[in-house]
Amino acid sequence: MLSRRNHILFIEDVSTTYLAEKFGTPLYVTSKKKLEENIEAYKKAFSGCKLLYAVKANNNLAIMKIIAKNGFGADVFSAGELYMALISGFKSEDILFNGNSKSDEEIRIGIDAKVKFSVDSLDELSTINEIAKEKGEKVEIAFRVNPDIDPKTHPKIATGLRESKFGIQIEDAKKAYEVATTMDNVEAKGIHFHIGSQILDTSPFVEALRKVGKLAVELEDIGVSLDFIDMGGGLGIDYEQKGAPSPFDLANAVLPVFEEIRRDLRSKVSLWLEPGRSIVGNTTILLTRVNAVKRGFKNFVAVDAGFNTLIRPAMYGSYHRVLVANKEGEEEVYTIVGPICESGDILARDRRLPRIEKGDLIAILDAGAYGFSMSSQYNGRPRCAEVLVEGENASIIRERETFGDLVSRQKIPEWLF
Ligand code: LLP
Repeated sequence: MLSRRNHILFIEDVSTTYLAEKFGTPLYVTSKKKLEENIEAYKKAFSGCKLLYAVKANNNLAIMKIIAKNGFGADVFSAGELYMALISGFKSEDILFNGNSKSDEEIRIGIDAKVKFSVDSLDELSTINEIAKEKGEKVEIAFRVNPDIDPKTHPKIATGLRESKFGIQIEDAKKAYEVATTMDNVEAKGIHFHIGSQILDTSPFVEALRKVGKLAVELEDIGVSLDFIDMGGGLGIDYEQKGAPSPFDLANAVLPVFEEIRRDLRSKVSLWLEPGRSIVGNTTILLTRVNAVKRGFKNFVAVDAGFNTLIRPAMYGSYHRVLVANKEGEEEVYTIVGPICESGDILARDRRLPRIEKGDLIAILDAGAYGFSMSSQYNGRPRCAEVLVEGENASIIRERETFGDLVSRQKIPEWLF
């Protein structure tokens, strides 16, 4: 998806310098081709399984439209994500409403939209049952179970450990399903788990699936007949160019185990997955302009994107590759920092890059997952624009916010005048 032509970085057949001039910076730029390759890889590796795209990773409507058109369902984590998923073409029967703290209002919206629910607590179960009763509906559910597995990833994105806030402990899960069987307006159809994100080893997935497979057998004994086991998302991508498992590697590791589980069950259960990062992560670059270079004890390059635009380095210490987009040449060591008034606003530390000057263009790679979707207006900075590239064409898929957007929902009470 990326190449150099006359020293200039191109994404597909569009020059990054042209994109920055035409649309301004900071700018997220996504390659449609790369996105379709990732989608294809998952569809091939997991044919016969159901794939739900994790909307939280990137909720741009155009990007979601491409994913929905390819037959994916959606994992949504809020009524807002549900709203965006429906607009972009995901079918309600292919949507799973996840979340550990859904409001009654969100549950109502989900039931009206006729989506399935991943239930995180017994409180949520009763609420769904009550609201479904009011509406004369029967809601299909899975419980989010916590299999107590160490995914060996960053602690802030590990979700399957016992101390995690997500899900019902696996040893308490059978009891929860028993409670569900006594209710008239919910029907337990699945088991859901998600052990964490940016996981670079397939063995925690296998371990978790085995544990959940045992639970599935026990559930059949109490009369629960399952349609699906949803193993969540979490497959990592190769941010550091040190290697990462592909969807095929994940399939080779988990599908044989899933076949064993199927053999042990009477019901015809299918495997669901919820990839986010591994669908969109490496499809997108973030273009950012150099406002100033400061040489001294450290060489700082101050750019126009900060943790308001891409929070991952500041929040998780994440590594993103950085390129100078408008030239190549002799290298120096630079630390790339944003415009935010906090010392933690560092995008990349101590990188060898061609000599940088004010006005140069920097590309931050692998910014398609949890990039724009986690961005903010901190320090009074409107959120940036997004562009989709296909071959030689580039179209805006999200307009840059304006100063008006910073204040559009604010009110100064009359009595202050
Ligand atoms: N399913 C559930 C229930 C999830 O909570 C998540 C991600 C996914 C699927 C998708 O996981 P993925 O395939 O993208 O790893 N902001 C962090 C990542 C947070 C992940 C939250 N849950 C980051 O930038 O690394």
